[in-house]
Amino acid sequence: MQKNQSTSRGQRVEDATNAAKEAWGSSQIGPFDYIPKVGFREYWYPAIWAKEVPKRKPKMVTMLDEDIVFFRDKFGEVASLTDWCPHRNARFSLGESVFPGTITCPYHGYTFDSQGQCVAGLIDHPESPLIPKLKARKFPTVEFKGIIFLWMGETDPVPLEEDLPFELSDAQNDMYVRVRDWETNWTEPVNQGIDFHEAYLHRKQLGSLGKSKFKFHSILSKDLAFFRPKLAYYGGVKVDTESDHFFTLNATQPFIGEAFHPGVNAYWPKKPWWVFLKPKIRKSKKNDPNERQSLIGTRPFAHAGQLPSIVRVFGGGGEISVHIRWMVPVTAELTRTWTFTVGRRPQTLIGRIWKNFWYYFWRKPSIIVRTNEWEDLVVFMKDRLRFDLPQKLGPLDTGVIYFRRHLAKRSRDFQRLGGAVGTIKAQPTRTAQQWKEGEQEK
Ligand code: FES
Ligand SMILES: [Fe+2]
Repeated sequence: MQKNQSTSRGQRVEDATNAAKEAWGSSQIGPFDYIPKVGFREYWYPAIWAKEVPKRKPKMVTMLDEDIVFFRDKFGEVASLTDWCPHRNARFSLGESVFPGTITCPYHGYTFDSQGQCVAGLIDHPESPLIPKLKARKFPTVEFKGIIFLWMGETDPVPLEEDLPFELSDAQNDMYVRVRDWETNWTEPVNQGIDFHEAYLHRKQLGSLGKSKFKFHSILSKDLAFFRPKLAYYGGVKVDTESDHFFTLNATQPFIGEAFHPGVNAYWPKKPWWVFLKPKIRKSKKNDPNERQSLIGTRPFAHAGQLPSIVRVFGGGGEISVHIRWMVPVTAELTRTWTFTVGRRPQTLIGRIWKNFWYYFWRKPSIIVRTNEWEDLVVFMKDRLRFDLPQKLGPLDTGVIYFRRHLAKRSRDFQRLGGAVGTIKAQPTRTAQQWKEGEQEK
Protein backbone atom coordinates (compact mmCIF):
# COMPACT_ATOMS: atom_id res chain seq x y z
CA MET A 1 0.00 0.00 0.00
CA GLN A 2 1.16 3.51 -0.68
CA LYS A 3 2.60 5.46 2.19
CA ASN A 4 1.29 8.90 2.86
CA GLN A 5 0.68 11.27 5.72
CA SER A 6 -2.54 9.69 6.89
CA THR A 7 -1.05 6.23 7.24
CA SER A 8 2.02 7.22 9.24
CA ARG A 9 2.43 5.62 12.63
CA GLY A 10 1.70 8.84 14.54
CA GLN A 11 -1.59 9.36 12.80
CA ARG A 12 -2.63 5.79 13.51
CA VAL A 13 -2.04 6.09 17.24
CA GLU A 14 -4.16 9.21 17.22
CA ASP A 15 -6.86 7.27 15.37
CA ALA A 16 -6.97 4.68 18.15
CA THR A 17 -7.28 7.36 20.83
CA ASN A 18 -9.91 9.20 18.86
CA ALA A 19 -11.96 6.05 18.30
CA ALA A 20 -11.92 5.37 22.06
CA LYS A 21 -12.92 8.97 22.82
CA GLU A 22 -15.68 8.86 20.26
CA ALA A 23 -16.98 5.64 21.81
CA TRP A 24 -17.25 7.19 25.26
CA GLY A 25 -19.16 10.11 23.79
CA SER A 26 -21.80 7.90 22.13
CA SER A 27 -21.04 7.95 18.43
CA GLN A 28 -23.62 8.06 15.68
CA ILE A 29 -21.32 7.04 12.85
CA GLY A 30 -23.39 4.98 10.44
CA PRO A 31 -22.49 1.65 8.82
CA PHE A 32 -22.16 3.20 5.35
CA ASP A 33 -20.87 6.71 6.05
CA TYR A 34 -17.35 5.76 4.91
CA ILE A 35 -17.85 2.05 4.25
CA PRO A 36 -19.26 1.04 0.86
CA LYS A 37 -22.53 -0.85 0.95
CA VAL A 38 -21.37 -3.60 -1.39
CA GLY A 39 -17.71 -3.60 -0.41
CA PHE A 40 -14.37 -1.95 -1.05
CA ARG A 41 -13.52 -2.61 -4.68
CA GLU A 42 -9.76 -2.14 -4.99
CA TYR A 43 -9.03 -5.53 -3.42
CA TRP A 44 -8.71 -9.24 -4.06
CA TYR A 45 -11.53 -11.44 -2.77
CA PRO A 46 -11.90 -15.23 -2.66
CA ALA A 47 -14.36 -16.15 -5.44
CA ILE A 48 -14.68 -19.88 -6.02
CA TRP A 49 -12.86 -23.19 -5.61
CA ALA A 50 -10.92 -23.94 -8.81
CA LYS A 51 -12.27 -27.48 -8.81
CA GLU A 52 -15.81 -26.12 -9.14
CA VAL A 53 -15.08 -24.77 -12.62
CA PRO A 54 -15.57 -27.61 -15.12
CA LYS A 55 -13.82 -27.97 -18.50
CA ARG A 56 -16.66 -27.15 -20.88
CA LYS A 57 -19.34 -25.48 -18.79
CA PRO A 58 -19.04 -21.98 -17.40
CA LYS A 59 -19.88 -21.16 -13.81
CA MET A 60 -21.40 -17.92 -12.54
CA VAL A 61 -20.62 -16.21 -9.23
CA THR A 62 -22.10 -12.94 -8.01
CA MET A 63 -19.81 -10.75 -5.94
CA LEU A 64 -19.84 -7.05 -5.15
CA ASP A 65 -23.07 -6.86 -7.13
CA GLU A 66 -21.34 -8.04 -10.33
CA ASP A 67 -22.19 -11.27 -12.10
CA ILE A 68 -18.95 -12.95 -13.09
CA VAL A 69 -18.52 -15.95 -15.38
CA PHE A 70 -15.71 -18.42 -14.77
CA PHE A 71 -14.41 -20.80 -17.44
CA ARG A 72 -11.15 -22.48 -18.47
CA ASP A 73 -8.63 -20.71 -20.71
CA LYS A 74 -6.55 -22.53 -23.32
CA PHE A 75 -4.04 -23.64 -20.66
CA GLY A 76 -6.79 -25.05 -18.46
CA GLU A 77 -6.49 -22.19 -15.95
CA VAL A 78 -9.60 -20.50 -14.57
CA ALA A 79 -10.42 -17.21 -16.33
CA SER A 80 -13.19 -14.75 -15.58
CA LEU A 81 -15.21 -12.16 -17.45
CA THR A 82 -18.32 -10.15 -16.73
CA ASP A 83 -21.31 -12.42 -17.26
CA TRP A 84 -22.92 -9.92 -19.64
CA CYS A 85 -22.10 -10.43 -23.31
CA PRO A 86 -21.19 -7.08 -24.90
CA HIS A 87 -23.31 -7.85 -27.98
CA ARG A 88 -26.80 -7.51 -26.53
CA ASN A 89 -26.06 -8.41 -22.92
CA ALA A 90 -27.20 -12.02 -22.62
CA ARG A 91 -25.56 -14.20 -19.96
CA PHE A 92 -22.35 -16.01 -20.87
CA SER A 93 -22.95 -18.40 -17.99
CA LEU A 94 -25.88 -19.93 -19.90
CA GLY A 95 -23.58 -20.66 -22.83
CA GLU A 96 -20.77 -23.15 -23.20
CA SER A 97 -17.14 -23.56 -24.18
CA VAL A 98 -17.70 -24.71 -27.75
CA PHE A 99 -13.95 -24.36 -28.44
CA PRO A 100 -11.36 -24.99 -25.72
CA GLY A 101 -10.31 -21.83 -23.90
CA THR A 102 -13.27 -19.75 -25.08
CA ILE A 103 -16.84 -19.03 -24.06
CA THR A 104 -19.69 -18.82 -26.56
CA CYS A 105 -22.72 -16.68 -25.74
CA PRO A 106 -25.97 -18.69 -25.87
CA TYR A 107 -27.90 -16.06 -27.82
CA HIS A 108 -26.15 -15.35 -31.15
CA GLY A 109 -23.00 -17.39 -30.70
CA TYR A 110 -20.36 -14.66 -30.41
CA THR A 111 -17.32 -16.35 -28.93
CA PHE A 112 -14.77 -14.76 -26.55
CA ASP A 113 -11.29 -15.68 -25.36
CA SER A 114 -10.04 -15.47 -21.77
CA GLN A 115 -8.98 -11.83 -22.27
CA GLY A 116 -12.56 -10.92 -23.13
CA GLN A 117 -11.81 -10.36 -26.81
CA CYS A 118 -14.41 -11.59 -29.28
CA VAL A 119 -12.66 -14.05 -31.60
CA ALA A 120 -15.56 -15.37 -33.70
CA GLY A 121 -19.24 -14.82 -34.43
CA LEU A 122 -20.45 -18.30 -35.23
CA ILE A 123 -23.43 -17.25 -37.31
CA ASP A 124 -21.91 -13.92 -38.43
CA HIS A 125 -19.54 -13.56 -41.39
CA PRO A 126 -16.00 -14.74 -40.43
CA GLU A 127 -14.78 -11.27 -41.52
CA SER A 128 -17.54 -9.44 -39.61
CA PRO A 129 -16.43 -5.93 -38.58
CA LEU A 130 -18.18 -6.41 -35.25
CA ILE A 131 -15.82 -9.17 -34.04
CA PRO A 132 -12.75 -7.02 -33.22
CA LYS A 133 -15.01 -4.41 -31.64
CA LEU A 134 -16.67 -6.71 -29.09
CA LYS A 135 -14.80 -6.80 -25.80
CA ALA A 136 -16.07 -8.10 -22.46
CA ARG A 137 -14.64 -6.82 -19.17
CA LYS A 138 -11.98 -9.16 -17.81
CA PHE A 139 -11.36 -9.58 -14.07
CA PRO A 140 -7.81 -10.59 -13.06
CA THR A 141 -7.64 -13.92 -11.22
CA VAL A 142 -5.01 -15.77 -9.20
CA GLU A 143 -5.25 -19.31 -7.90
CA PHE A 144 -3.94 -19.92 -4.38
CA LYS A 145 -4.34 -23.20 -2.48
CA GLY A 146 -7.14 -24.25 -4.82
CA ILE A 147 -9.10 -21.01 -4.38
CA ILE A 148 -9.60 -18.56 -7.23
CA PHE A 149 -9.12 -14.99 -6.02
CA LEU A 150 -10.62 -12.19 -8.07
CA TRP A 151 -9.46 -8.58 -8.36
CA MET A 152 -12.58 -6.41 -8.28
CA GLY A 153 -10.91 -3.02 -8.70
CA GLU A 154 -10.78 -0.44 -11.47
CA THR A 155 -7.13 0.34 -10.72
CA ASP A 156 -4.16 -2.03 -11.18
CA PRO A 157 -4.09 -5.18 -9.03
CA VAL A 158 -1.54 -5.49 -6.22
CA PRO A 159 0.23 -8.81 -5.51
CA LEU A 160 -2.28 -11.19 -3.90
CA GLU A 161 -0.11 -11.50 -0.74
CA GLU A 162 -0.90 -7.89 0.16
CA ASP A 163 -4.54 -8.78 0.70
CA LEU A 164 -4.31 -12.36 2.00
CA PRO A 165 -4.55 -12.95 5.75
CA PHE A 166 -0.87 -13.35 6.72
CA GLU A 167 -1.38 -16.81 8.19
CA LEU A 168 -2.55 -18.26 4.87
CA SER A 169 0.74 -17.62 3.10
CA ASP A 170 2.82 -19.06 5.96
CA ALA A 171 4.13 -22.41 4.67
CA GLN A 172 4.15 -23.87 8.18
CA ASN A 173 0.38 -23.58 8.43
CA ASP A 174 -2.51 -25.68 7.23
CA MET A 175 -6.14 -24.63 6.89
CA TYR A 176 -9.73 -25.79 6.98
CA VAL A 177 -12.24 -23.78 4.98
CA ARG A 178 -16.01 -23.47 5.15
CA VAL A 179 -18.02 -21.31 2.73
CA ARG A 180 -21.62 -20.30 3.42
CA ASP A 181 -23.98 -17.61 2.18
CA TRP A 182 -25.30 -15.42 4.99
CA GLU A 183 -28.43 -13.35 4.49
CA THR A 184 -27.13 -10.02 5.67
CA ASN A 185 -25.09 -7.06 4.51
CA TRP A 186 -21.35 -7.85 4.67
CA THR A 187 -20.61 -5.12 7.19
CA GLU A 188 -22.54 -6.73 10.03
CA PRO A 189 -20.49 -9.94 10.21
CA VAL A 190 -17.44 -7.65 10.15
CA ASN A 191 -18.84 -5.52 12.97
CA GLN A 192 -19.75 -8.69 14.86
CA GLY A 193 -16.15 -9.85 14.53
CA ILE A 194 -14.72 -6.64 16.00
CA ASP A 195 -17.28 -5.79 18.66
CA PHE A 196 -17.69 -7.36 22.09
CA HIS A 197 -20.99 -9.19 22.28
CA GLU A 198 -19.97 -12.72 23.27
CA ALA A 199 -20.31 -12.40 27.03
CA TYR A 200 -24.00 -11.72 26.46
CA LEU A 201 -25.03 -13.33 23.17
CA HIS A 202 -23.05 -16.52 23.79
CA ARG A 203 -23.59 -16.57 27.55
CA LYS A 204 -25.39 -19.91 27.44
CA GLN A 205 -22.57 -21.66 25.66
CA LEU A 206 -20.12 -19.92 27.87
CA GLY A 207 -21.92 -21.41 30.81
CA SER A 208 -22.70 -18.32 32.82
CA LEU A 209 -26.46 -18.80 32.57
CA GLY A 210 -26.49 -22.28 31.14
CA LYS A 211 -29.39 -24.51 31.99
CA SER A 212 -27.56 -27.77 31.38
CA LYS A 213 -25.58 -29.14 34.27
CA PHE A 214 -22.93 -30.68 32.05
CA LYS A 215 -20.90 -27.89 30.51
CA PHE A 216 -18.96 -29.51 27.73
CA HIS A 217 -17.53 -26.24 26.42
CA SER A 218 -16.11 -25.19 29.72
CA ILE A 219 -14.40 -28.52 30.24
CA LEU A 220 -12.59 -28.39 26.95
CA SER A 221 -11.65 -24.79 27.10
CA LYS A 222 -10.14 -23.90 30.42
CA ASP A 223 -7.03 -22.60 28.71
CA LEU A 224 -8.80 -20.46 26.17
CA ALA A 225 -9.24 -16.97 27.52
CA PHE A 226 -12.32 -16.49 25.40
CA PHE A 227 -14.00 -19.45 27.00
CA ARG A 228 -13.36 -18.47 30.59
CA PRO A 229 -16.64 -16.77 31.21
CA LYS A 230 -15.99 -15.30 34.56
CA LEU A 231 -16.58 -11.89 33.13
CA ALA A 232 -19.43 -9.72 34.31
CA TYR A 233 -18.67 -6.68 32.19
CA TYR A 234 -15.98 -5.13 30.04
CA GLY A 235 -14.38 -1.94 31.32
CA GLY A 236 -13.86 -0.84 27.74
CA VAL A 237 -12.21 -1.84 24.50
CA LYS A 238 -8.88 -0.66 23.21
CA VAL A 239 -7.14 -0.78 19.86
CA ASP A 240 -3.94 -2.61 20.69
CA THR A 241 -1.89 -2.91 17.50
CA GLU A 242 -2.31 -1.14 14.18
CA SER A 243 -0.92 -1.25 10.68
CA ASP A 244 -1.97 0.32 7.40
CA HIS A 245 -4.71 -2.24 6.85
CA PHE A 246 -5.01 -4.11 10.10
CA PHE A 247 -5.76 -3.64 13.81
CA THR A 248 -6.23 -5.77 16.92
CA LEU A 249 -8.50 -5.18 19.90
CA ASN A 250 -8.55 -6.19 23.53
CA ALA A 251 -11.00 -5.65 26.34
CA THR A 252 -9.74 -3.41 29.11
CA GLN A 253 -10.38 -3.81 32.83
CA PRO A 254 -12.76 -6.72 32.61
CA PHE A 255 -14.80 -7.04 35.79
CA ILE A 256 -14.95 -10.60 37.05
CA GLY A 257 -17.80 -12.22 38.95
CA GLU A 258 -21.16 -10.57 39.47
CA ALA A 259 -21.78 -6.87 39.08
CA PHE A 260 -24.51 -4.77 40.66
CA HIS A 261 -26.65 -2.79 38.21
CA PRO A 262 -28.53 -0.08 40.13
CA GLY A 263 -31.02 0.55 37.32
CA VAL A 264 -32.49 -2.91 37.84
CA ASN A 265 -31.43 -3.17 41.48
CA ALA A 266 -29.85 -6.57 40.89
CA TYR A 267 -26.68 -8.50 40.22
CA TRP A 268 -25.68 -9.99 36.89
CA PRO A 269 -24.83 -12.74 35.95
CA LYS A 270 -27.29 -14.35 38.30
CA LYS A 271 -25.28 -17.56 38.54
CA PRO A 272 -21.55 -17.16 37.91
CA TRP A 273 -20.39 -20.70 37.28
CA TRP A 274 -16.72 -19.74 37.41
CA VAL A 275 -16.57 -20.52 41.08
CA PHE A 276 -16.30 -24.14 40.02
CA LEU A 277 -13.00 -23.56 38.29
CA LYS A 278 -10.02 -24.33 40.45
CA PRO A 279 -7.98 -21.22 41.36
CA LYS A 280 -4.86 -22.91 40.02
CA ILE A 281 -6.33 -22.87 36.53
CA ARG A 282 -7.56 -19.34 36.84
CA LYS A 283 -4.12 -18.13 37.79
CA SER A 284 -2.33 -20.21 35.15
CA LYS A 285 0.59 -18.43 33.50
CA LYS A 286 -0.63 -19.70 30.18
CA ASN A 287 -3.48 -17.26 30.47
CA ASP A 288 -1.30 -14.25 31.09
CA PRO A 289 -1.43 -12.23 27.86
CA ASN A 290 2.02 -10.79 28.40
CA GLU A 291 3.58 -14.24 28.33
CA ARG A 292 2.20 -15.07 24.94
CA GLN A 293 2.20 -14.18 21.28
CA SER A 294 -0.48 -14.77 18.70
CA LEU A 295 0.20 -16.57 15.43
CA ILE A 296 0.48 -13.28 13.62
CA GLY A 297 3.20 -12.05 15.94
CA THR A 298 1.12 -9.50 17.82
CA ARG A 299 0.13 -9.74 21.45
CA PRO A 300 -2.86 -12.02 21.85
CA PHE A 301 -6.02 -10.23 20.85
CA ALA A 302 -9.72 -10.71 21.39
CA HIS A 303 -10.67 -9.48 17.93
CA ALA A 304 -8.87 -8.17 14.87
CA GLY A 305 -10.00 -6.45 11.70
CA GLN A 306 -8.28 -6.27 8.31
CA LEU A 307 -9.17 -4.56 5.06
CA PRO A 308 -11.19 -5.13 3.01
CA SER A 309 -13.52 -7.37 5.10
CA ILE A 310 -11.52 -9.83 7.19
CA VAL A 311 -11.90 -10.49 10.91
CA ARG A 312 -10.12 -12.73 13.38
CA VAL A 313 -11.68 -13.82 16.61
CA PHE A 314 -10.71 -15.79 19.73
CA GLY A 315 -7.35 -14.49 20.83
CA GLY A 316 -6.97 -17.10 23.50
CA GLY A 317 -6.33 -19.95 21.12
CA GLY A 318 -4.21 -17.77 18.90
CA GLU A 319 -1.05 -19.84 19.24
CA ILE A 320 -2.77 -23.04 18.14
CA SER A 321 -5.13 -21.82 15.49
CA VAL A 322 -6.80 -18.67 14.39
CA HIS A 323 -10.40 -18.27 13.32
CA ILE A 324 -10.48 -16.02 10.29
CA ARG A 325 -13.59 -14.92 8.49
CA TRP A 326 -13.45 -13.20 5.10
CA MET A 327 -16.75 -11.64 4.10
CA VAL A 328 -17.39 -11.34 0.38
CA PRO A 329 -20.27 -8.98 -0.38
CA VAL A 330 -22.57 -10.70 -2.90
CA THR A 331 -25.27 -8.03 -3.00
CA ALA A 332 -26.20 -5.38 -0.44
CA GLU A 333 -28.28 -8.04 1.36
CA LEU A 334 -26.20 -11.19 0.91
CA THR A 335 -22.70 -12.13 2.04
CA ARG A 336 -20.55 -15.12 1.19
CA THR A 337 -18.67 -15.97 4.34
CA TRP A 338 -15.36 -17.82 3.99
CA THR A 339 -14.25 -19.18 7.34
CA PHE A 340 -10.58 -20.18 7.49
CA THR A 341 -9.32 -22.13 10.47
CA VAL A 342 -5.56 -21.75 10.18
CA GLY A 343 -2.85 -23.16 12.39
CA ARG A 344 0.51 -24.90 12.50
CA ARG A 345 0.61 -28.05 10.39
CA PRO A 346 1.07 -31.13 12.59
CA GLN A 347 4.36 -32.96 11.95
CA THR A 348 3.21 -36.49 12.68
CA LEU A 349 0.45 -38.77 11.43
CA ILE A 350 -1.06 -38.96 14.90
CA GLY A 351 -0.93 -35.18 15.06
CA ARG A 352 -2.81 -34.89 11.78
CA ILE A 353 -5.46 -37.38 12.83
CA TRP A 354 -5.91 -35.58 16.12
CA LYS A 355 -6.18 -32.24 14.36
CA ASN A 356 -8.86 -33.49 11.98
CA PHE A 357 -10.72 -34.86 14.95
CA TRP A 358 -10.38 -31.52 16.72
CA TYR A 359 -11.66 -29.61 13.71
CA TYR A 360 -14.53 -31.82 12.62
CA PHE A 361 -15.81 -32.77 16.08
CA TRP A 362 -15.06 -29.64 18.04
CA ARG A 363 -14.10 -26.48 16.23
CA LYS A 364 -16.51 -26.72 13.33
CA PRO A 365 -19.66 -27.81 15.20
CA SER A 366 -19.11 -25.65 18.26
CA ILE A 367 -17.63 -22.44 16.90
CA ILE A 368 -18.39 -22.20 13.22
CA VAL A 369 -21.83 -23.79 13.16
CA ARG A 370 -23.18 -23.26 16.64
CA THR A 371 -21.63 -19.96 17.61
CA ASN A 372 -21.41 -18.19 14.25
CA GLU A 373 -24.28 -19.65 12.27
CA TRP A 374 -26.81 -20.45 15.02
CA GLU A 375 -26.18 -17.67 17.49
CA ASP A 376 -24.52 -14.76 15.71
CA LEU A 377 -26.16 -14.85 12.30
CA VAL A 378 -29.73 -15.29 13.59
CA VAL A 379 -29.46 -12.02 15.48
CA PHE A 380 -28.52 -9.89 12.50
CA MET A 381 -29.79 -11.77 9.45
CA LYS A 382 -32.45 -10.49 7.06
CA ASP A 383 -35.34 -8.63 8.72
CA ARG A 384 -33.72 -8.89 12.16
CA LEU A 385 -31.44 -5.88 12.08
CA ARG A 386 -32.01 -2.47 10.50
CA PHE A 387 -29.24 -0.72 8.65
CA ASP A 388 -31.28 2.38 7.84
CA LEU A 389 -32.08 3.65 11.36
CA PRO A 390 -29.60 5.76 13.33
CA GLN A 391 -27.27 3.80 15.61
CA LYS A 392 -25.58 4.88 18.83
CA LEU A 393 -22.21 3.31 19.48
CA GLY A 394 -20.52 3.11 22.87
CA PRO A 395 -17.44 1.74 24.62
CA LEU A 396 -17.98 -1.85 23.43
CA ASP A 397 -18.03 -0.58 19.84
CA THR A 398 -14.59 1.06 19.80
CA GLY A 399 -13.46 -1.39 17.12
CA VAL A 400 -16.57 -0.75 15.06
CA ILE A 401 -15.97 3.01 15.20
CA TYR A 402 -12.31 2.48 14.33
CA PHE A 403 -13.23 0.37 11.32
CA ARG A 404 -16.02 2.65 10.12
CA ARG A 405 -14.14 5.91 10.46
CA HIS A 406 -10.39 5.29 10.48
CA LEU A 407 -9.55 2.00 8.81
CA ALA A 408 -12.03 2.81 6.01
CA LYS A 409 -10.02 5.91 5.15
CA ARG A 410 -6.84 3.85 4.88
CA SER A 411 -8.48 1.54 2.35
CA ARG A 412 -7.05 1.33 -1.15
CA ASP A 413 -10.30 2.82 -2.50
CA PHE A 414 -9.63 5.97 -0.46
CA GLN A 415 -5.87 5.99 -1.08
CA ARG A 416 -6.20 5.57 -4.82
CA LEU A 417 -9.55 7.07 -5.71
CA GLY A 418 -10.15 9.48 -2.83
CA GLY A 419 -13.23 7.63 -1.57
CA ALA A 420 -15.37 4.58 -2.22
CA VAL A 421 -18.38 3.97 -4.44
CA GLY A 422 -21.45 3.24 -2.31
CA THR A 423 -20.52 5.35 0.72
CA ILE A 424 -22.73 8.15 1.97
CA LYS A 425 -20.02 10.63 2.92
CA ALA A 426 -17.02 9.78 0.73
CA GLN A 427 -17.65 9.14 -2.93
CA PRO A 428 -14.50 8.78 -5.08
CA THR A 429 -12.89 12.04 -6.16
CA ARG A 430 -10.66 10.52 -8.88
CA THR A 431 -11.21 8.04 -11.69
CA ALA A 432 -8.98 5.02 -12.14
CA GLN A 433 -7.51 6.79 -15.19
CA GLN A 434 -6.63 9.89 -13.15
CA TRP A 435 -5.04 7.68 -10.50
CA LYS A 436 -2.94 5.98 -13.16
CA GLU A 437 -1.74 9.28 -14.60
CA GLY A 438 -0.83 10.45 -11.11
CA GLU A 439 1.15 7.25 -10.55
CA GLN A 440 3.07 7.74 -13.79
CA GLU A 441 4.04 11.28 -12.79
CA LYS A 442 5.54 10.04 -9.53
S1 FES B 1 -26.14 -11.27 -26.80
FE1 FES B 1 -24.42 -12.50 -26.79
S2 FES B 1 -24.21 -13.11 -28.80
FE2 FES B 1 -25.88 -11.79 -28.84
FE1 LIG C 1 -20.37 -14.09 18.25
